[in-house]
Amino acid sequence: MDGTRRLLAYNQQWVAERLAERPDYFTRLGGQQDPQFVWIGCSDSRVPAEMLTGCQPGELFVHRNVANQVIHTDLNMLTVVFYAVERLRVKHIIVCGHTGCGGVKAAMSRQDFGLINRWLQNIKDCAERHQAELEALPDEEARTGRLVEINVVEQVDHLAKTSVIQRCWKREQRPWLHGWVYDTDGGTLRELVRRTPGDLPHAAHQYDIED
Ligand code: CO
Repeated sequence: MDGTRRLLAYNQQWVAERLAERPDYFTRLGGQQDPQFVWIGCSDSRVPAEMLTGCQPGELFVHRNVANQVIHTDLNMLTVVFYAVERLRVKHIIVCGHTGCGGVKAAMSRQDFGLINRWLQNIKDCAERHQAELEALPDEEARTGRLVEINVVEQVDHLAKTSVIQRCWKREQRPWLHGWVYDTDGGTLRELVRRTPGDLPHAAHQYDIED
């Protein structure tokens, strides 16, 4: 049995329901998108960005990768952020981690995950910088929970240091950067950190950007 048939069948039903609610549901955007938010989240299937924020098509510009990383050499992520900030002129970028993140757990273990090791190195480095705090926690679950939070804050700060964001912050009062954690067991979102154009990173991390 082809499991994808269920998805296609659901899609037909979904289209019918949306059109019954609002005949212009699909055409109202006029072939354009004008999202206010970028979502940088984990690839984890338990964190469906639109579903848990009530966002409709056209509202959320999404980038997801394992453990919601913002890595300065990641052309994929940078392209998403550049396009969203420069062209779509989004007002908010949300980096969202989640409880029980497999990427974070894997980074904390000493197991060999093959190619994935290289992606996880960023989180391993992050864990190393906060080793004392993590080791003081009572168990693995507490350490994972805390590293999920530390990771989110760190990725928000990486984002703040990209030239795309710094260039925009020097010119405009947007975008605001948010670090959130989603609780996969309870369904709730929590904001951990917010960075706004007034919070330019430490001078040593700033670029001298000429416009
Ligand atoms: Co995850």
